[in-house]
Amino acid sequence: MDKKENVLCMMLAWSLVLSFTFNIAAARDCVKVNDCSCQMDDGSGLVDIATLGRTDGKPAFSGLDPNSVKYSYNPCYPFTDGACENVAACQNLQNQNIPIGKQDGSLWNVDPASNELIVTYTQNTTGQEQVTIVTLVCNKTITDTADYIAIGTVTGNAPYFLSISHKCACPGLCTPGLSAGTVIIIVFFCVLAVYLIGGVLYTKFVKKSTGMELIPNLDLWKTFFQLIKDGFMFLVGKCKRSQYDKI
Ligand SMILES: *[C@@H]1O[C@H](CO)[C@@H](O)[C@H](O)[C@H]1NC(C)=O
Ligand SMILES: *[C@@H]1O[C@H](CO)[C@@H](O)[C@H](O)[C@H]1NC(C)=O
Repeated sequence: MDKKENVLCMMLAWSLVLSFTFNIAAARDCVKVNDCSCQMDDGSGLVDIATLGRTDGKPAFSGLDPNSVKYSYNPCYPFTDGACENVAACQNLQNQNIPIGKQDGSLWNVDPASNELIVTYTQNTTGQEQVTIVTLVCNKTITDTADYIAIGTVTGNAPYFLSISHKCACPGLCTPGLSAGTVIIIVFFCVLAVYLIGGVLYTKFVKKSTGMELIPNLDLWKTFFQLIKDGFMFLVGKCKRSQYDKI
């Protein structure tokens, strides 16, 4: 076996190991943390929409649906506009404000059909149950003002559909601090760097090694990669062999 094949084997083996490690949980959901954020259960991070909301008691978003019914929405923080008192969402129909969802008790889910994150707000102040469903669309390129769409309703009644697109709707991109996955990767590379630098210094100055022998625990690593390679070649040996022959 030549050197190129060796390296390729190692790379494939490692990518297999990594993809297994990071994809154990396949069914995604977002576990609610509070009325402003949820944590993806696949480890991809926190979705936090707090920075998209206004904190001065006014709605951050306001717009007309295709039937010219106005819907206002403010992520995370309650707002008040006439009859809509301390709400998350407000409908303005024929110049009358109707509260259609409060911040408290919001439900956070990944819609299994569309695979998109939805937040459901409810309100029951008028005796009539109101439901507003906001889709949080992850778009990494929208970093300033979020794109807001008042989709409205087909039936004229609840649920009312709204949508906002922004970087902060993406898991882990609007988190104050680092996600768990990032921390693990950073710690891994720090430990690796300390091991390599410390190991090289040790073999160089204590064991007086030179060349390849500078690599710490060289024999152990040779055996380790040989084992991975053997296992890998055992699994896909024949198939890969025929592809190499073609090249
Ligand atoms: C909404 O309010 C009505 C009347 O107060 C009540 O009968 C109904 O159970 C409430 N619904 C919910 C979901 O709380
Ligand atoms: C993200 O938003 C930009 C600007 O509105 C749009 O052009 C682009 O198509 C969006 N990307 C996706 C994946 O929806």
